[in-house]
Amino acid sequence: MKIIAIETTCDDTAISIMEDNLIILNEKISSEKFFSDYGGIVPEIAARKHAENIIIIIKNLLNKNKIKLIDVNYVAYASEPGLVGSLHVGEILSRTISWYYNIPLIKINHIIAHCFSAFINNCDVSYPFISLIASGGTTSLFLIKNINDITTICQKKDDALGEAFDKIGRLLGLKYPGGPEIDKIFDPLKVKKIFKKQNVLEDFSFSGVKSKIVSLINFYKKQSQEIPVIELASSFQSWAIDLLIEKIQYYQKIYNVKLITIGGGVSSNSLWKKRIKEIEIPILYPQKDLCCDNAAMIAFLASEKIKNEE
Ligand code: KG4
Repeated sequence: MKIIAIETTCDDTAISIMEDNLIILNEKISSEKFFSDYGGIVPEIAARKHAENIIIIIKNLLNKNKIKLIDVNYVAYASEPGLVGSLHVGEILSRTISWYYNIPLIKINHIIAHCFSAFINNCDVSYPFISLIASGGTTSLFLIKNINDITTICQKKDDALGEAFDKIGRLLGLKYPGGPEIDKIFDPLKVKKIFKKQNVLEDFSFSGVKSKIVSLINFYKKQSQEIPVIELASSFQSWAIDLLIEKIQYYQKIYNVKLITIGGGVSSNSLWKKRIKEIEIPILYPQKDLCCDNAAMIAFLASEKIKNEE
């Protein structure tokens, strides 16, 4: 069985091929560099870049004879959630392949695909598990009892965690995206207790932390003091990771689940990877290139759905 999967939800244009449960191809072009001057994604530019990049990727795969569309049995694409213009590019290509080659089209939820990305090239899926997805657009905790029984335990009230990393990075004068930049300058010796602890039962909220940083920056400016960039960045990163650990520990006990998966761009954070070892049950995290947006996870979830229906 061969699946072609297409991912264009945000700023990464990606295509993957899965054959007999193995990811044999996983290609991506990111338009991230076009957004550094804006400090964030511009949806109109992202959609236009997808339209250019998707042709580059598919032509490249066809020219190098890496795929023959005639041999493909299914086409899967990330249909939600995402930027409307970006989603349309993936949908149009997927619908065209499905129509032209007369093969079934499978719509995949991008966030749920992240929940399964830790199993790719790793081990078989085993239910039930809890999944924490923290990316530029999402911060959610899911209870996954099986492929058709997925409950959101906790979600974001305002900004997503990756978005908070990016906005705080910008406030501190760091390059876009702020997540990896804050991670690079993190210094555990500079961590201070600046931010209020959040109630574990409440949904995730990161906008208050951002406001606190704005007011501290204004205070330092008024006093003509240098902004302690490393201290603020490190304190934020440490506070955010404490919150993720606390949530997972709490809900793992409540639901008595013996497996956790993590995913989304923030899962490449080095402190998160280090601290997650404190949780005393198996934790699966995706291989490095599968933490951020990718099409392999779309193909993988599509194949889980097909297996479930067989
Ligand atoms: O999953 P992803 O590629 O897709 C979007 O949601 O766009 O996640 C991107 C997010 C960005 O906000 C980025 O700053 C964050 O993941 N990120 C990180 C790290 N690497 C990427 N956040 C914290 N630490 C990192 N090392």
